[in-house]
Amino acid sequence: MNKKATISIDGKNYDFPVLEGTVGPDTIDITKLYALTNNFTIDPGFTSTASCESSITYIDGDKGECYYRGYPMDELAEKSTFLEVVHLLWNGSLPTKDEWFEYSEAIKNHTMVHEQMKSFFNGFRRGSHPMAILTSVVAAMSAFYPDSTDVNDLDQRKIAARRMIAKVPTLAAMAYKYSIGQPFIYPDNSLDYSENFLQMTFGVPAEKYKINKVLSRALDKIFILHADHEQNASTSTVRLAASSGVNPFASISSGFTSLWGPLHGGANEAALNMLREIGDVKNIPKFIEKAKDKNDPFKLMGFGHRVYKNYDPRAKVMQKTCHEVLSEIGKKDDKILQVALELEKIALKDDYFIEKKLYPNIDFYSGITLNAMGFPSTMFTPLFAVARTAGWIAHWKEMYLDPKNRIGRPRQLYIGEKPRKFLELKDRS
Ligand code: CMC
Repeated sequence: MNKKATISIDGKNYDFPVLEGTVGPDTIDITKLYALTNNFTIDPGFTSTASCESSITYIDGDKGECYYRGYPMDELAEKSTFLEVVHLLWNGSLPTKDEWFEYSEAIKNHTMVHEQMKSFFNGFRRGSHPMAILTSVVAAMSAFYPDSTDVNDLDQRKIAARRMIAKVPTLAAMAYKYSIGQPFIYPDNSLDYSENFLQMTFGVPAEKYKINKVLSRALDKIFILHADHEQNASTSTVRLAASSGVNPFASISSGFTSLWGPLHGGANEAALNMLREIGDVKNIPKFIEKAKDKNDPFKLMGFGHRVYKNYDPRAKVMQKTCHEVLSEIGKKDDKILQVALELEKIALKDDYFIEKKLYPNIDFYSGITLNAMGFPSTMFTPLFAVARTAGWIAHWKEMYLDPKNRIGRPRQLYIGEKPRKFLELKDRS
């Protein structure tokens, strides 16, 4: 039997269909609510509102599980590669051998960026935050690749997607190189995705860059962990921007902008800064008290999540990866890691964090790991963005294939002035 939900307004009942997903909560379809009742609904922060149907990622926040196209994300992180996962997110299946050959070669063909983009970088002040540069240069791709901007053309959409996933690491590495005054390093297509990113970031023209396989594998895992996370702030921003029909590069650059905030992709930078500020295990209780104080805006960065009310599964893999990286570089006893481990232990036993179901999220250990790999904290969010480009594009592609896709246009509860008369300046007191 089809489920329905009944809403009663002023004694009159209205029935609405209840939609069932594959897994997860049922969803009341209120599309016709306004037409039938002249009422809107309000849900700031989208706590109870689904903005679309999607088949890409599923999070079970209570259990602390995350699946990409039905595969446990942590299993993919251990067994798959980032580029395979991108194929999975975009197409719904892991690539067959034939598909892999065509697809991975095509991505390699697109790793270089238009040579003139170099001069675009030169317009930025040295020392600019790499995210400031990236938000602009990704949008600027629409000026450099105008032959893949028609969103109504399936082939152009495919090329734009491949161009972005291939070129975003090149642009992120260039943003870093520019900020430290080193020459840009061209991609090397004999390397895999993460190896290539490491050599473009840390290589210099004067020396051959030596790949450390433990670190490149760790980076690949980190990319997989960050690849998608259903309708978060940046993904929803991309969908809303794209719903106007704007070109793909402009849509994806809006994701970069939204991701940058400290409550979202900027939390990894903020979490490491916080751990450094704590500095020593003996200072932890003071910071725990600050986080619990209602009158203090301080929050434990890298803790809490809108959806996870259990341990973030990404944080588990990230913690393990962190140990692997620190052991590889001979820093097993890193002081900041000791602070993080102790802080987690204390917070997880504290009533405040238990009652509010606040657990470490992915950003808690990612900063320490990336820092140990040699990335400065300003590169943490760009790295998140490189990986999340996969998810943004998956959602962007899905949106264009959805026959229900319409321009996004939220309503509001207007609480401002009622219509009033304009007074000339001379008549205003
Ligand atoms: N430290 C201390 N208290 C917290 C924290 C924290 N990290 N997170 C939430 N709370 C408290 C919050 O003050 C609120 O208390 P009360 O009910 O008394 O007002 C309660 O827990 C619920 O929190 P909320 O802010 O209403 O929850 P939200 O779903 O709106 O926000 C969040 C989720 C991730 C923005 C928030 O937990 C937070 O600000 N965490 C720190 C920033 C962070 O680590 N962000 C990375 C998120 S994971 C990466 C990503 O996917 O972007």
